[in-house]
Amino acid sequence: MPKVWDIVATVAAVAIGGANYALAQTTGAYTDSRTGIVYQAYKNPNYGGYTFGIAIPSSPTNEFIGLLEGPLGTPANRWAGVSLGGPMNGPTLIVAWPNGNDVVTSFRTASNWIEPTPLTPTGATLTKMNVAVNSTHWSLTFRCINCNTWASGSLDLTGAAAVFGYAQSPYSVVTPSSPDSSLQPHDNSFANYGLPLTSARSANYATWIAQYPGGTTSTTTSRTTTTTTTTRTTTTSVAPLPTYTKTFDYIVIGAGAGGMVMADRLSEAGKSVLLIERGPPSTYQHGGRIQPPWVGSANLTRFDIPGLCNEIWHNSSGIACTDISGGVMAGCILGGGTAINSGLFWKPQPYDYDNTDWPVGWKYNDMTPYVNKVFSRIPSTTTPSQDGQRYGQDLYNLLYSVLQPKGWNPIDANAQPDQKNRTFVHTPYMYSGGQRGGPLATYLVSAKARSNFQLWVNTAVVKLNRNGGQITGVVTEATAAGGMRYLINVSTSGRVILSSGVFNTAKILFRSGIGPTDALNVVKASTDGPTMIDSSQWINLPVGSNLHDQDNTDLVFSHPTITSYDFYAAYSSPIPADRDKYLNQRAGQLAEAAPNCNTVFFESFTSSDGRVRQVQWTARKEPSLGAAGDDMVTLSLYLTAGATSRGHLTIQPSLNTVVDVLPYLNTQADIDAKVKAIQSWINVANNYPNLTFVYPVKGQNASDYLTNYVGGHGSNHWMGTCRMGTDDGRAGGKAVVDTNTQVWGTLNLFVVDASIFPSTITANPSAYILSVAERAAAKILALALNSNPGGSSSTTTSRTTTTSSRTTTTSSRTTTTSSRTTTTSIRTTTTSTRTTTASGATQTLYGQCAGVGWTGPTVCASGSCQYQNAYYCK
Ligand SMILES: Cc1cc2nc3c(=O)[nH]c(=O)nc-3n(C[C@H](O)[C@H](O)[C@H](O)COP(=O)(O)OP(=O)(O)OC[C@H]3O[C@@H](n4cnc5c(N)ncnc54)[C@H](O)[C@@H]3O)c2cc1C
Ligand code: HEM
Repeated sequence: MPKVWDIVATVAAVAIGGANYALAQTTGAYTDSRTGIVYQAYKNPNYGGYTFGIAIPSSPTNEFIGLLEGPLGTPANRWAGVSLGGPMNGPTLIVAWPNGNDVVTSFRTASNWIEPTPLTPTGATLTKMNVAVNSTHWSLTFRCINCNTWASGSLDLTGAAAVFGYAQSPYSVVTPSSPDSSLQPHDNSFANYGLPLTSARSANYATWIAQYPGGTTSTTTSRTTTTTTTTRTTTTSVAPLPTYTKTFDYIVIGAGAGGMVMADRLSEAGKSVLLIERGPPSTYQHGGRIQPPWVGSANLTRFDIPGLCNEIWHNSSGIACTDISGGVMAGCILGGGTAINSGLFWKPQPYDYDNTDWPVGWKYNDMTPYVNKVFSRIPSTTTPSQDGQRYGQDLYNLLYSVLQPKGWNPIDANAQPDQKNRTFVHTPYMYSGGQRGGPLATYLVSAKARSNFQLWVNTAVVKLNRNGGQITGVVTEATAAGGMRYLINVSTSGRVILSSGVFNTAKILFRSGIGPTDALNVVKASTDGPTMIDSSQWINLPVGSNLHDQDNTDLVFSHPTITSYDFYAAYSSPIPADRDKYLNQRAGQLAEAAPNCNTVFFESFTSSDGRVRQVQWTARKEPSLGAAGDDMVTLSLYLTAGATSRGHLTIQPSLNTVVDVLPYLNTQADIDAKVKAIQSWINVANNYPNLTFVYPVKGQNASDYLTNYVGGHGSNHWMGTCRMGTDDGRAGGKAVVDTNTQVWGTLNLFVVDASIFPSTITANPSAYILSVAERAAAKILALALNSNPGGSSSTTTSRTTTTSSRTTTTSSRTTTTSSRTTTTSIRTTTTSTRTTTASGATQTLYGQCAGVGWTGPTVCASGSCQYQNAYYCK
């Protein structure tokens, strides 16, 4: 690994090549004599002078103190900026300029070398600690929280060193008073440089923050006299949290697949409902305005147009969640995954619920009425184009002639959902009227029409306040303009539904003192520490365990009958005829999901442990794994229902979540099933005329291919971090929520999203999540207020906590050349067991064993009875 100063030398050399001033720049320790803050700083004396400095706590978290300084004089109001990742394109850019006695700040982002657009990173706050203006320069001291992650990367504040980018303009900004002002370029005044972060750490950090908490004073030395005046600067993060004036029957957190159904059904039942969404609007109907350049006056955003769904892989800035480490894609925008996904959407089959870990009450027959409710509102279609034609059918036709002669059958995915062995389908989508449709166009629309419903966007829930098992408040922060920063009180008749997705539901629970002790200790040691609920009130549940995602293996082949379509180019320069067909009729290629994923096929195998496992191939017209060509097809081969591999999710000191144990192929039987599936494809396609195997190569066997597979394993079908079950996780079970979706150990907290799925299902889960949410809404509405979950004893009292070490080992698969790394971790989990009352007494059959005010035995007599509900043994 290069030393810190090697990095500086390297990037300085790069800068010399790009701009002549590079020799004059310096980096090193710098103490600002006005504030006493000690930085690692970069200085450039050219172009009127420039300084950027950074100071971080001795135990780095998710924040830093920054210093930006620039010149005054002619022309006025010139900007100076820093790229927190080095280059201009991708990382968060912080730009500042003088405006009278103040300094205006602006977050920007760029994906090309043109003027960057304003964009506040999700969850980021920049607080001015001190502003100083003298006769020659302006200076801004600021505190930046959560500024260090962006869609394509992050500034690792825990690292030894980091690369930053310098830029400064010789021209005035256009509207000096506006943070969104248009900026003129920086000409040659730009460079990359490195700073040693280890030297930027200081034990005095908290003192500096306390000394300049923001919203206090800024010193301004007048340019014409030497008088010192003080003015006020604005702040967003240190002002006391205002309390919202209203309370609600239900607060639903997260407007994704689960949250939109919940908000609609609860408000339909007459309950007052607040739906809080961290991201901005997505589809045009709900106020989104992120539009490709060619839509003109049409009421469309990129999210509305099926053929642009792949754009998420090109540009996810301001759309994807930025607080999940490791490159996981998840939508942090109104609609969640259903705003950015490919819209594949079909009915569940019995095996999804009946032969898996779903508890009693959540089997196929229980689910069917709720599945029907979903499909009566969102009937899926295999002909999304409004002219009734199917496009890109060279793919379906080819696969038909490969599969059908080998005994595979074409079926209707929704009419024959239980036919998952050697069958293939025209892909059904949730699209409607040639646009995205789905829950955004149905559930959210009917909810918004009700006067007892409110939607807040650009607002993130930070954590829940609680007293034991009773949630008493929801703490929010604004993520962008229009967002809300409040404490919302939750009364004893109020309930909170977490629908923030697999990663963020877990994160909110951790920050609210609910989860395994190791994760809660991380939160305690973070910036949350001082305000975190006391450890005596922590509820130890296995949040983050049971993580699953359908293991994917890409298989690639080519065939001369295949012609691919450039959906990525369609974003900025579509084929004119296709553009017009879409704009005028909502028809044609752009009315179908990119990149022609119009054929899906299925197979089932009994694997080495005797359990049936299913696989799903989703075909698409594009190369992958580095292959190239217009005649390429990639098959995404997902291991679906029946898979037993599980991973683990936890939280980092930065308060990002992270998958610390990957959930892919961790059991031998899963590996065996995957090998069988790959071999099945090899066998079926082996002698098909003119079909060229690309990956695997011709003659390679399945086991060899899987062993040496270097592609990604993820499918974006994450589930399971808050597993549903009757086995109370506080007592050593695996469940985080009970069969009413209520969090064990709480009285008014529920989880309704992909987190609660105990087992995986057929691939493409959004229809399943909507159906589960329909059932959850019915169950929650039928549940008496303040019930104990699952018939357990009261919430957080009378528990003994034992700690045990658990070692998670990696897959037994031996991989020689694969670049995939499976994390091996030794984690300590805390399990808790419920004890009897002081006497250790147990209750008899049909006796009371819990309930409000109950002080008697809380455990049923061993061997004779078990829990029936919150009040009785049976
Ligand atoms: C690129 C991609 C393609 C996919 N393709 C398909 C497909 O074709 N078919 C299919 O069925 N499935 C697909 N999926 C999966 C599917 O979209 C997800 O499984 C599903 O959306 C998950 O639903 P959810 O309710 O659990 O969470 P999400 O839909 O992720 O919703 C969670 C919501 O909570 C919000 N949120 C997060 N944190 C907070 C907070 N602190 N405060 C307030 N709000 C918060 C988020 O912004 C988000 O809106 C795809 C997923 C991805 C990422
Ligand atoms: C205002 C409009 C802007 C324009 C038109 C613009 C244009 C460009 C161009 C063309 C380059 C590449 C130069 C080359 O490689 O020779 C570049 C590089 C760079 N720009 Fe900008 N820029 C703008 C604003 C900004 C802002 C606000 C920042 C904020 C920090 C910034 C930071 C950088 C950095 C760090 C580089 C170094 C090269 C790299 O790594 O990308 N730019 N810019």
